[in-house]
Amino acid sequence: MNNKSYLVIRAHFFNPLDKSHWEDIPDGALCYDEDGRITAFGTSEEVLKKFPLGRYCELIDYSDYFIIPAFVDVHLHAPQFNCRGFYSDNLLEWLDNFIFAEEEKFAGSAYASNIATELYKGMVSYGIGTASIYGSVHPNATDILLSKGAKTPMKLAIGKVMMDRTDYETTEESINQSLELYNKWDGKNGGRIKYSFTPRFAPACTEKLLKEVGRIVSRNKALCQTHLSETIGELELVKKMFPDYGSYTEVYSRNNLLQKGSIVAHGIHLTDEEYVILKDSGCGVAHCPDSNMFLHSGRMNITKMFENDIRIGLGSDIGAGSTLSPFNSMKMMIYSHGISDITPEMAFYFATLGGAEIIGFGDITGNFKVGKDADFIVVRKPKKVPHNNNYTRQVLSHLIFCNGEHHIKAVYLKGERVY
Ligand code: GUN
Ligand code: FE
Repeated sequence: MNNKSYLVIRAHFFNPLDKSHWEDIPDGALCYDEDGRITAFGTSEEVLKKFPLGRYCELIDYSDYFIIPAFVDVHLHAPQFNCRGFYSDNLLEWLDNFIFAEEEKFAGSAYASNIATELYKGMVSYGIGTASIYGSVHPNATDILLSKGAKTPMKLAIGKVMMDRTDYETTEESINQSLELYNKWDGKNGGRIKYSFTPRFAPACTEKLLKEVGRIVSRNKALCQTHLSETIGELELVKKMFPDYGSYTEVYSRNNLLQKGSIVAHGIHLTDEEYVILKDSGCGVAHCPDSNMFLHSGRMNITKMFENDIRIGLGSDIGAGSTLSPFNSMKMMIYSHGISDITPEMAFYFATLGGAEIIGFGDITGNFKVGKDADFIVVRKPKKVPHNNNYTRQVLSHLIFCNGEHHIKAVYLKGERVY
């Protein structure tokens, strides 16, 4: 060891590896350096052998606690944080009745600044360390969101909403303002801030805009986020507005918007051909089950997603989603699909590493791998979980189904306690 200083965290660790593999280490330890980077992970015996306690290596003993990686929310709308739970029969009506009016408030920077602060505070209180976030159409409000995010240890992909088919902006304004934010912010905070080009969804955008965004993101390998096939009403609009395309997914794929680092939210009403396009493109799908139930949008077909090896992550989709709580998103995910389609262990993967991988932060967060940021949540073990029947699965299940946020004792991002 050199003169760097280290911390060793001792606890019961759950570490997702992929959809069907994880590590369960009852007497485990995680060591990280003063930069918040993981230097060792395994049983406490293994870790303490490599990093013996001493002058430059201190222990934080969470032996009575359970530790999981910090959560990842792959799809949420910052300017909708203040307007959740407003009832509507469907997406398009909900947007017209509540959402566009709320988002207009972000023209003023004072409001935008307050909501950004509240949002980040809320995220860390739920153990969310990474997210892909929609701003509003306003470049100034999005700049504030990026600027506040860059002062945290969070990993954030953020973009100004593009919607040039509306009165809010012209195509040129949309592109220029987005490029300016991209050039200013992408890669900042040691790569923890990324700019994500954000065409709202096809019905709000001209073909010219989609083409130009496609050119920019494919040339620069930049991130991109949009919505895809959330509701039948939206699908009908797309058919009318883009008559030369074979499907909704094609509107994005033929304009080069789908690639690794692109996230499409929802993907509910898809044909077999569209699953293949998604798979071949390498893009990720944001699964937002709470939002899908709230807006009566339908259910994502998880079997088709798995059969086609399409990568998915979990999103709250605030404000169609009711809460930032990843525990709620996992619960809704399990409720939305068939028996054993999604086990508690799988749900934790989609709420952590699975999400980090589709945003493009899989190499720095999502699980406990040497070299990644020490991003983790310390959880009080639920007292009533029986020890004799797959204890770890039952702890995870209890957290998912019984509001796990009440069990959070502490949240660490990049090694620093943030909650
Ligand atoms: N499609 C286009 N805009 C939105 C939005 O703000 N929320 C959801 N859920 N879907 C959308
Ligand atoms: Fe959304």
